[in-house]
Amino acid sequence: MSLLLPLLLAAAPLAQPPAAPPAQTDAEAPVDWDKEFGVVRKERDPVTGEIPLDPYPQSAANAGARPFGGEAMARAFGGQAGIRRITDRTLDLSMADPRIKAIFAEHDMVRLRRTLFEQVCYILNAGCRYSGRDMKTAHKGLGTTRADLNALVEHLQEAMREAKVSFPAQNRLLARLAPMDRAVTER
Ligand code: HEM
Repeated sequence: MSLLLPLLLAAAPLAQPPAAPPAQTDAEAPVDWDKEFGVVRKERDPVTGEIPLDPYPQSAANAGARPFGGEAMARAFGGQAGIRRITDRTLDLSMADPRIKAIFAEHDMVRLRRTLFEQVCYILNAGCRYSGRDMKTAHKGLGTTRADLNALVEHLQEAMREAKVSFPAQNRLLARLAPMDRAVTER
């Protein structure tokens, strides 16, 4: 026994190293599920930051309301800079509102910021062309309700109030937007 122990200890370093993990099989290789399901992800335009849309008919009528005449409304909203602040603020408040923020997730908010500004600027006759889609097409499939619309209008009113737009001017814009309710809601 006393002779056997040193012999065993000397032999220990010769023991086999632990087996290497088995090479990754096909079943474990990462799968590109987008490719498998044929999902095409459109890249953002490097200049505008927008996700390009397929071509659609463009027309001022897509704005959904005729523009005001004269300059009074554009002035009441602080010109293009004032309108930009109001439409941006409306979207910021909407995207932070737990009642409706999920509707905006996954949509191109860079484009929506631009097109909502263009639309309001065009209607207020503040020198813009509206290049977006018509309201029905743009909101198709969103499943928005009248309650969602009320929430968005609340935020627009808050944004106009903060920008100190007079009440008569606020109401004149809201009256032009109101007839779009059927086109922008689905339930
Ligand atoms: C009178 C009320 C409304 C107006 C004037 C309006 C205006 C617009 C405009 C100009 C666009 C962009 C069109 C384009 O991309 O070509 C748009 C798209 C959109 N709107 Fe509205 N909107 C209204 C109501 C609403 C409401 C109530 C919601 C939800 C709470 C909503 C959510 C959206 C979303 C998520 C998009 C992007 C759709 C997409 O990416 O395809 N909108 N809206």
